[in-house]
Amino acid sequence: MSFPTRRLRRLRTTSKMRELTQETRLSMKDLICPVFVQEDLKTRIKVESMSEIERLPLEDINDEVGTISDLGIPAIMLFGIPSKKDEVGSSSFDDNGIVQKAISQIRKNFGDKIVIMADVCLCQFTSTGHCGIIKGNKIDNDTSLDTLAKIAVSQAKMGVDTVSPSAMMDGQVYAIRKALDDNGFTDVSIMSHSAKHRSSFYSPFRDAAECAPKFGDRKTYQVPFTNSREAMMEVETDINEGVDIVMIKPALSYLDLITETRKRFNIPVAAYSVSGEYALVKGAAMQGWINEKDITEEILYSIKRAGADMIVTYFAKSAARFLQES
Ligand code: PBG
Repeated sequence: MSFPTRRLRRLRTTSKMRELTQETRLSMKDLICPVFVQEDLKTRIKVESMSEIERLPLEDINDEVGTISDLGIPAIMLFGIPSKKDEVGSSSFDDNGIVQKAISQIRKNFGDKIVIMADVCLCQFTSTGHCGIIKGNKIDNDTSLDTLAKIAVSQAKMGVDTVSPSAMMDGQVYAIRKALDDNGFTDVSIMSHSAKHRSSFYSPFRDAAECAPKFGDRKTYQVPFTNSREAMMEVETDINEGVDIVMIKPALSYLDLITETRKRFNIPVAAYSVSGEYALVKGAAMQGWINEKDITEEILYSIKRAGADMIVTYFAKSAARFLQES
């Protein structure tokens, strides 16, 4: 052995030394917890493909948000499942819609104690299950923009902090920013699902939110998982349109894009660790094949190490619990 040897093991000798030299930190303050609220629901329903995730009735929302907030998690991401769907997704921008009711109830109860983020999309609200409005046999981009803008404004009226468009329509950030500003909601921020890929990792979510497309697929609007330059164009376009936080979605198979976004832009970067990523871990853990806590920790740290500032994850509550203990 040549001398002097670079001995990297010197900084791994004790647990305190490893703590001191740890490069990436994870805190419950980095997490955003998804919440599903369903209209006209009497009792909670378990989501079959997502162990421990439930759809909640409006009456249970305060309890759930209280639990999340007590765990030190700063933000929730609301998804709504309406009773009525139609071709143009009318219940999505109804001031009495399920998401709107949930927002105003949470705001009343929690004031500024939690950041309320809400999904802005159509697929839960349209009878077609598509994220845009169909005209002829096409998803019509610009008609869909008007509706997305109306959803954002109706959520803003109820007191949302951040709207989170996930429809992948071109120009959605600009349309929403303009509508919010025109209606006096200049303080409502936008976290766009900027590079949302056409992914098979979303299938458990479609179970949770009843939003699978009734025909076709989402290939004409979501980013192909083969294209990283195109993903960067999506991020850049959202920034030019005035977005406040960009998002890469899914997370685990897209860590390279998180890193690339962090390197190229100065804007906050969120990662969405989606339902399929959760289901893979849960499924294996339920079989006893892996240690759920250890794997969750490693996954969340890797997303932070890649460059994410915040993570939307179905593990938010369980991770906050183990982070409180450590
Ligand atoms: C709907 C939406 C989807 C997800 C978030 N918003 C599903 C889809 O595009 O089919 C997926 C989230 C997840 O899988 O956790 N616009």
